[in-house]
Amino acid sequence: MKIAVVGTGYVGLVTGTCFAETGNKVTCVDIDQEKVDKLSNGKITIYEPGLEKIFQRNLKEERLRFTTDLADGIRDAEIVFLALPTPPGEDGSADLKYVLGVAGEIGKLLNDYKVIINKSTVPVGTAKKVRDAIGQNYKGEYDVISNPEFLREGVAVEDFMKPDRVVIGTTSERARKVMSDLYAPFVRQGNPVIFMDEASAELTKYAANSFLATKISFMNEVARLCEKLGADVDMVRRGIGSDDRIGKRFLFPGIGYGGSCFPKDVQALVRSAHEANYDFRILEAVMAVNEDQKTFLIPKIKSHFEDNLIGKHFALWGLAFKPNTDDIREAPALYIIKALLGEGATVTVFDPEAMDNVQRIMGTTIEYAESQYDCLKDADALIIATEWNEFRTPDFDKIAGLLKDSVIFDGRNLFDLGEMQKLGFHYESIGRKPITL
Ligand SMILES: NC(=O)c1ccc[n+]([C@@H]2O[C@H](COP(=O)([O-])OP(=O)(O)OC[C@H]3O[C@@H](n4cnc5c(N)ncnc54)[C@H](O)[C@@H]3O)[C@@H](O)[C@H]2O)c1
Repeated sequence: MKIAVVGTGYVGLVTGTCFAETGNKVTCVDIDQEKVDKLSNGKITIYEPGLEKIFQRNLKEERLRFTTDLADGIRDAEIVFLALPTPPGEDGSADLKYVLGVAGEIGKLLNDYKVIINKSTVPVGTAKKVRDAIGQNYKGEYDVISNPEFLREGVAVEDFMKPDRVVIGTTSERARKVMSDLYAPFVRQGNPVIFMDEASAELTKYAANSFLATKISFMNEVARLCEKLGADVDMVRRGIGSDDRIGKRFLFPGIGYGGSCFPKDVQALVRSAHEANYDFRILEAVMAVNEDQKTFLIPKIKSHFEDNLIGKHFALWGLAFKPNTDDIREAPALYIIKALLGEGATVTVFDPEAMDNVQRIMGTTIEYAESQYDCLKDADALIIATEWNEFRTPDFDKIAGLLKDSVIFDGRNLFDLGEMQKLGFHYESIGRKPITL
């Protein structure tokens, strides 16, 4: 099939590349000239495991190309995906200006039946708005359907190639057939393609992300309670996770959820609920807990240094909002850094992939280390904000040798309490007993 993908960010680039990988001819459109130039010249613009290889292969086979020209991009396409940003507006609701702007443009360019598929995360009612925006400029036949994307950054290619499910919101038989054919190679192992009405598809995406965010905030509150009651959240997690109804995944406490999706999607669902005269009380609490959790380590750090961080120097490992990505949108690490700087401390950071993105926004306010160990030199303590695999089994002797004191504040519970005790570290984590020197 001939496919256009409008918006070539995390979702658009993975979508376009993976559809090319199954033999389709894909044109990715983006307004960012620099991004399109880089991609056209074989330079990948995001870090996503496994993406580079299939990107290069499909570029070479000429199944994948990039343009800034929407007309050129969609001219031959039977299917047009919208993978455009839907950032929070001032009131927290999803801002649809990119999606509806492009829809209006598409209306001016259509001259034949096409299926327009919205992959962006959008509130209920958006498919209709997109249909209307196109219809203002085009009177022929077309379908607009909702096909929310569930890929996770860090495992996006795997998620896209083998989705747990594909959700498609449409009542058009013609579009349904196109979508069934398109997704057939991705669900050969029997994972479901679930057809439903548009509103339910649009809400499914928000409900999924909000439920996952709820799990995280719930466990973070359990962790806080563990600290007060002298319980160990790792034990509680294992105790409850072995119940099938609860499940083992997404029960790890930490320093809150970040990224480009959970914070904005939870907020947008609360906003949608308000507009429908419904007060989504659980999600209000989920957001409030998460807000506090991002800087949960700060009082612990302050208390260790007798409430005075002026002139203290910290090493911070992990900037991306989660491992295996360079995405720093709403990353808890940034909140910690800002809080430390606000207290008069200085910070040197290290992340395997996200350094450039952080440097772009934080400039010279912090220092950037070449390696995780360089980062530690003369620091008063190490803070861990992202659970990259390479941080899990570090050389503790080296850490102790480079830090001024053997002090670690771990926002991701990477290390075993008994081992840290034996190694003689002052070690504080989340929801577990602190090891004090
Ligand atoms: N990132 C994720 O993990 C993820 C997962 C599922 C769903 N989503 C949703 O998918 C959507 C896209 O997210 P993303 O993370 O890929 O965003 P992104 O910011 O990485 O990418 C969006 C791209 O759209 C481009 N763009 C903006 N206006 C344009 C226009 N008029 N024409 C062409 N291109 C334009 C931007 O230049 C950018 O490259 C959002 O609604 C998001 O909520 C994201």
